[in-house]
Formats: sequence, C-alpha cells, structure tokens
Amino acid sequence: MSNDKPIGIFDSGIGGTSIWSAIHQLLPNEQTIYLADSKNAPYGQKSKEEIIALSMKNTDFLLQQQCKLIVVACNTATTNAIRELRAKYSIPFIGIEPAIKPAATNSRTQTIGILATQGTLNSELFNKTLEMFQDTTIIEQVGHGLVPLIESGNINSPEMTQLLLSYLTPMIAANIDYLVLGCSHYPYLIPQIKKILPDHIHIIDSGEAVAKQTLQVLINKVGLTTAVTKSSPIFYSNANAKVLSEILENKYPVITKDF
Ligand code: SIN
Repeated sequence: MSNDKPIGIFDSGIGGTSIWSAIHQLLPNEQTIYLADSKNAPYGQKSKEEIIALSMKNTDFLLQQQCKLIVVACNTATTNAIRELRAKYSIPFIGIEPAIKPAATNSRTQTIGILATQGTLNSELFNKTLEMFQDTTIIEQVGHGLVPLIESGNINSPEMTQLLLSYLTPMIAANIDYLVLGCSHYPYLIPQIKKILPDHIHIIDSGEAVAKQTLQVLINKVGLTTAVTKSSPIFYSNANAKVLSEILENKYPVITKDF
C-alpha cells in the first residue's frame, strides 16, 4: 500500500516542531505540513470546549491540504480533544501523551516529576494514565508562563531560568530520577533544564515515540510515500512567523496565513 499525500501536524504554536523534527528524521521522504496556531497560544489555560474547537479548526485546514494522517503535536490538544477528533473525522490521528510509562517503569526512586500545562494535568486522559502507576509517586507541576516565553522567542531569558528553577527545585528535593516533559514546547528548554538538574535525573520527551508510532500507522493503515528523495516540508503560521522560522534555524520558508 502506498500513499503520496502529506502528513499533517498541528500545535498551539512552535513547540510541536520538536515532534515534527523527530518525524522528519525518521521519515524524510514523507511530505509534511506543519500548522502553528500561534495566534491562539497557549492552549494550556483554555477550556476543553475551546481546545476541541481549535483542534477541529486546525484539522479542517490540514484536510483542505489533503493530509492522509494528522499528528496532534500538542499534549493539551491530545489529552482534551483527540477522542472528539477521532469521532468526527475518518482519517487516523496520532496524539502525544506525557511519557509516564517509561519513566515510572524505569524509576529506581519510584518518584518521577512531570512538567505540563494545566489543561494536560487536569484532563481525564492524563488522570486515567496516572491510575495505572499507583506505586510511583508522581510530582505534578504546571509550567505556568513557559509556553508564552517560548512563543515570544525568550527561551534563553533570565525569566525562563527563574521559572525553571522554581518548578524543578522542589522535584529535585523530592528525589525524582525521571522528569517527563509533558508539553511539546518543553524539549526546547532541555539545555537549560540540564543545567539545573543533577546528572542522574533522566529527561524524557515524546518525539521519538510519536515518530515510530506514525511509521507504524502509515505501514498498517494509510500507506507510505513512494517518493525516493527528501521532502521539502511546508510550514504555516498565523502569528509570529519569525519565531517559527528562528526555531527552524531559518532552514525552511514559513507561510503566514490567517486561519
Ligand atoms: C500550550 O499551548 O499551552 C502548550 C501546548 C502543549 O501542551 O503541548
């Protein structure tokens, strides 16, 4: 089975490019279309109904571009809206959930930390996942303010360092040995997080796992591209296109579109 249509990927902004990058690395010939809904970022403080409506708007845009599969590269949208997306549309959706399982399974201190948005930590899907790991102490922390700083291009600012110190210091004191990054924006903070965490604390994000799952769904349900050369990915943004270009190291053009 083959299928030359593109893979659609959306996020509340630029953070999902961490997921896009893992997919593009594993499946370089697949055409990808990335949608950054930066105009409506952050999703983390919005109601479930708003998150569903925005996720459907993003999906409609990607379907107009004939996407064969959609990756919801946003933890908040996955945990609040993926069930509704799957019920409404017939194409497959791949979501990102915080990687609690590998952290809880491998933790020696039986204590792990998770940094995520309020929307993700409050969601039913996340709380169901927690129930499966009742032997592990899970320290939850909302990353208040992190996404707006990333979206405004202030990744390396003193404010960011202060926020990260205040969120991570209690986790270190609680003896975590795994930190789960439960938001697709946060992998861009790994260099700073590493400066704060002691070396023995592992950091887990979801990019590689999502890319592998995408490959499986293409093989089993949708079809891989027949292209034999590397694709030229397409990026759309509805605000702050410059920040998206910068996070992509100005390697790809970004189309500004008001969706
Ligand atoms: C946000 O828009 O608040 C963050 C998106 C995410 O949870 O990945």
